[in-house]
Amino acid sequence: MRIAVLRERAAGETRVAAVPETVKKIIALGHAVVVEKGAGDASSAPDAAYEAAGAAIAPGAAAALQGADLLLKVRRPSAEEIAGLRAGAGAVALMEPYGDRALAEAFAKAKVEALAMELVPRITRAQAMDALSSQSNLAGYRAVIEAAALYGRAFPMMMTAAGTVAAAKCFVMGAGVAGLQAIATARRLGAVVSATDVRPAAKEQVASLGAKFIAVEDEEFKQAETAAGYAKPMSAEYQKKQAALVAEHIAKQDVVITTALIPGRPAPALVTEAMVKAMRPGSVIVDLAVAQGGNCPLSKADEVVEVGGVKVAGFSNLPARLPADSSALYAKNLLALLPLLTDKDSKAFAPAWDDEIIKGAMLTRAGAVVHPSFAAAPAA
Ligand code: NAI
Repeated sequence: MRIAVLRERAAGETRVAAVPETVKKIIALGHAVVVEKGAGDASSAPDAAYEAAGAAIAPGAAAALQGADLLLKVRRPSAEEIAGLRAGAGAVALMEPYGDRALAEAFAKAKVEALAMELVPRITRAQAMDALSSQSNLAGYRAVIEAAALYGRAFPMMMTAAGTVAAAKCFVMGAGVAGLQAIATARRLGAVVSATDVRPAAKEQVASLGAKFIAVEDEEFKQAETAAGYAKPMSAEYQKKQAALVAEHIAKQDVVITTALIPGRPAPALVTEAMVKAMRPGSVIVDLAVAQGGNCPLSKADEVVEVGGVKVAGFSNLPARLPADSSALYAKNLLALLPLLTDKDSKAFAPAWDDEIIKGAMLTRAGAVVHPSFAAAPAA
C-alpha cells in the first residue's frame, strides 16, 4: 500500500508520524511511503533523510494524499486532509476521540477507516503500539526539566565552601506513566520526591522509585482502579479528605508536577488557589493536565502564570518539546500497528477487523461509526 505522512499543522506541534528509521522498515515490509515536504523539519528529520530511507517527497499535503491507502499522522486530520483521502483509505492518529461524534461522523461520511491511537487497548500484545505511554513517558521527563528551568534554586543538595544548598522537595500528583517518569527524573536530579495517586497499585510503584507515597487510603481508594487500570472519578467526600491532606503537604513543597487524568473526562482539580498561595515564593507548579482542564484551576495552556511568587506552568503539549524522541517513539508505535492494518499476502490496506486491538481502536468502518463508545450517542 501507499502510505502518506503529512506535515503537522496544529499550532505548536513539532512531531511527525514517521521518522527515516521507520520509513525504511515500512518500505522493507513492501509498502511505498510519501512524505510531505518539511514534515520532519521540526523534529530534526530533514527531507533528505526520508529520501535516503526510500520515501518519495511530495510538495504539499494534497500531493502526498493523492492515491494514498493509509494516512499516518500525529494529530487528527483536518477536514481538508480527510477530503484528500479516497473512500476506503485509512487514517491513524492521536484523534482526541473521546465523545467527539462529529469527528467520527466526518470519517464515516468520507468512508475513511479511522483509528484512534488513544483507544488501542492496553493489553500486553499492544504494548509496542501504546502511544499514550510512549508520549506520557517523555512528557513526565520533560515536565521535571521544565520545572527545574523555572525554579530559581537547585534540585540537588550541594555542600559548598560558601554554604549548603538544600535539596528541592518535589511532589508528583498522579503516578501513572507520566508521573512515574517524573518521579524518576526528579530523583535523578537529586530532589526529595513524594507522590500521590488514587489507585492502590501506584503505592508500590512510587515506593520502588524511592519516593514517599502520600494518599488517603480509605475503602474508596481500595476500589479506585477500573478493570482497564485507570482511575475512577472520586466521590466528593474522598476529594475533601484528599484536599485536606494535599493542602498540608503542598505547603512544604518547592516543585509540584500534576499529571492526574481520568480518560474522557475533565482532569480532577487537585491544587486550589489557596494551596498555591500557601507555597513559598519561588515554588513551581507544572500542570500536565492543562489540556484536559488542568489539575490546578490557575494554570493556563502554554503560559507561566505567577501567583504570589509561585510559578504555575501549563504545558499543553510536552512531547512536542522533545520532538526527535517523541516522534521516534510514536513512529515506532505506528510501525508496530501496521501488520494489523495490512493484508499479509497482497500488502493492501486491510484492517484485521476481528482483532481485539483493531476493534478497540477503530472509530469507523465502511461509512459507519463503529466504536462502542459512540453506541449510545444519538446520530448527529
Ligand atoms: P492517566 O494518564 O489516565 O492518569 C494519570 C494518573 O492520574 C493515573 O495514575 C491516575 O490514577 C491518576 N489520577 C486520576 N485521578 C486522580 C486523583 N483524583 N488524584 C490523584 N491521582 C489521580 O493514566 P496512565 O498514565 O495512562 O496510566 C493508567 C494506568 O494504566 C496505570 O495503571 C498504568 O500502569 C497502566 N498502564 C498499563 C499499560 C499496559 O498494561 N500495557 C501501559 C501503560 C499504562
